[in-house]
Amino acid sequence: MIKPLEYVSRIKPYVPGKPVKELERELGITECIKLASNENPVGPSSKAVAALKAYIENGGELCRYPDGSGYYLKNALSQKLSSSSGGAKVGGEEIILGNGSNELLDIAARTFVGPGDEAVMASPSFVVYSMGVQSSGGVAREIALRDYTHDLSEMADAITPKTKVVFISNPNNPTGTINKKSEFDAFMKRVPDGILVVIDEAYFEYVRDPEYPDTLKCFAEGRDILILRTFSKIYGLASLRIGYGIARREILEEMNKIREPFNTNSLAQEAALAALGDEAHVRYSLEVNEEGKRFLYREFDELGLKYVPTEANFIYIPLDRDSKSLYDKLLRKGVIVRPVGPKELRVTVGLPEENRRFIEALKASL
Ligand SMILES: Cc1ncc(COP(=O)(O)O)c(C=O)c1O
Repeated sequence: MIKPLEYVSRIKPYVPGKPVKELERELGITECIKLASNENPVGPSSKAVAALKAYIENGGELCRYPDGSGYYLKNALSQKLSSSSGGAKVGGEEIILGNGSNELLDIAARTFVGPGDEAVMASPSFVVYSMGVQSSGGVAREIALRDYTHDLSEMADAITPKTKVVFISNPNNPTGTINKKSEFDAFMKRVPDGILVVIDEAYFEYVRDPEYPDTLKCFAEGRDILILRTFSKIYGLASLRIGYGIARREILEEMNKIREPFNTNSLAQEAALAALGDEAHVRYSLEVNEEGKRFLYREFDELGLKYVPTEANFIYIPLDRDSKSLYDKLLRKGVIVRPVGPKELRVTVGLPEENRRFIEALKASL
């Protein structure tokens, strides 16, 4: 019998959030709600939906391969980034598109980490970092969070001559915390030349803290940094799978060699382009998130439930009990959240009605 590579067989498979339709089938009920995968509950921009409809109505193009270079989307991103980043110019050749930023995490690992190499990351953080490193035969050096936040000083200490990549989730999934500018700058000073810092900013549009680092400045200074962002979160396009990375041209030239040539499809590119131009949708989504955070904090306070204040669209709840049984109780009430540790739960901020449903189910389950 064929055997997988030994380091592949050791990978623990990713467990996605339970789909609403699956739960509804299991329970024989309708109107279940999913607050498990940090999607935008507002949905996508109507401009993105209109662009998709127009593209499909002009169905002739569906028989063509997509533009593998993503020319128009990269151009639009280049203009937007160059006008928003305090002077850092980002050229089209300094942008890479991915089938979700998830794919770019994987490509980065496969480009820079080989068997026996190390990558430093926090724990708990986004599980895809360690999966990508392990699938390249590398070793994930996981550094425990301090106060629910990346311990950048310990992470810098963990760098060895074998280290090729450092992954930082800012905000961190699952805790929703950020590392601030001063810590990040101090960390970057300690990273030796020849190590790629992958800074995953999937939720950066949600951040309110003015001390959030301006990583584009580091990019402009010519550092070995890969900034990853996505259309899956505030832009509400998770199902279409499209994200982007920003890095020096030389870094992306190498990553592009192993990128599948048509990795982002035409519909995703069209929708992302339209969504990028809809600032009102982003602003509204942010307002909904802020209002949802305030409501949930208030309710948690009243329940005497501990939570970690978030800079993203989800909240981390360290419990005094087993998270799986609470998760199961909530499931039976048609509310899907995410157990992210033995005693830790993560809930996505939903629409007002969804947040109320979650709180009611929580009160009945605690
Ligand atoms: C921290 C973080 N990075 C990256 C991703 C991947 O997003 P996508 O592949 O949809 O762009 C997620 C998704 O949940 C995430 O939480």
